[in-house]
Amino acid sequence: PSSLATLGAAKGIRFGSTVGLRNFEDPAYRALNARECALIVPETEMKWVALRPDAKRFDFTAADRIVAWSRANSLGVRGHTLLWHADRWTPDWLKAHDFGPRPRSEAERLLTQHVSTVASRYASVVDSFDVVNEAINPDTGLINETALSKPLGGERTIDIAFQTARIAATKAQLVYNDFMSWAADNERHRTAILRLLEGMKKRGVPVDALGVQSHLGSKFSDTPTGLGQIDEAAWRRFLDEVTGMGLDLLVTELDVHDNPLPTEIGSRDAQVAAHTRAYLDLMLSYPQTRTVMCWGLSDRYSWLNDFRPRPDKLPKRPLPFDAEFRPKPMREAIAAAFTAA
Ligand code: G3I
Repeated sequence: PSSLATLGAAKGIRFGSTVGLRNFEDPAYRALNARECALIVPETEMKWVALRPDAKRFDFTAADRIVAWSRANSLGVRGHTLLWHADRWTPDWLKAHDFGPRPRSEAERLLTQHVSTVASRYASVVDSFDVVNEAINPDTGLINETALSKPLGGERTIDIAFQTARIAATKAQLVYNDFMSWAADNERHRTAILRLLEGMKKRGVPVDALGVQSHLGSKFSDTPTGLGQIDEAAWRRFLDEVTGMGLDLLVTELDVHDNPLPTEIGSRDAQVAAHTRAYLDLMLSYPQTRTVMCWGLSDRYSWLNDFRPRPDKLPKRPLPFDAEFRPKPMREAIAAAFTAA
């Protein structure tokens, strides 16, 4: 059958997935990605914690390996992420950093040095960067505070990251990436992200698109509530506002957390597939959606396995291929959504 890359390309959609620490050594996993994808994104290797052993050094070894493999397999590469604006993912050395007598200029120096060094290094192979990832606290709607934003301010930190990326990678699509969702309880998160994006557009900050992570299902509730309560109308209103600002959309990290679904695999897979199809039909109804990435291709390597176990302790089935790399109904759902788009 045609690969997901081929089916997507027929409609001008680029399909891709992650490779990284947890699976890049597996030749079968690399082959699956090379066959099915047009695009890959390093799962961890382009983050500050992977690239920066300390304030002075950059270690590109792991990222360069993945980029070299991608080029050898004629795959595009997404850059994730020039700044994960959250204390949890700020390297310890940066949290402990002495910002000296002029903390604002020291913070700006560290931030612009990192963004320009990484973005210019990969500008010839990466045509779309997640410049800033997850800057908003979904519970408060406020911009996270980090070692950099304490002296610089949250908005200014984000603005500088985008302005620096534009200079270093002039042709790249610059993306703000976050996990807002169509879940009924996500209104505050969505509103805060709209406010952030409106402010950036007003200040002339060079942001081109919103990365919609699309971690579907529910990773917290274990009760069989199905895949969570969805507010489709609110989600469309949100996407209308985002595209109304002239921003494009990307599905950047699609998977379906099936914790609350029943044990029986046939029914679980069918519900995951139906959920995926409904979601992609909605997202692809926006012509601004030209990229669909899954956060991994095989159940064997999903980050969700590191997350809360299912009540029945069975392995999760969140991705288009099973742990033996066999296609699942979710893969057919993605193929059908591309074909119908
Ligand atoms: O593989 C090493 C292991 O050898 C070592 O013993 C262990 C010690 O901590 O670390 C392991 O690496 C882990 C790596 O995942 C393996 O892939 C890192 O600790 C762990 O921090 C890392 O977590 C990643 C996380 O982002 C933080 O970078 C997940 O793989 C990755 O799926 C997750 O992806 C994020 C996106 O970047 C942003 N959106 C949400 C998404 C899911 O959290």
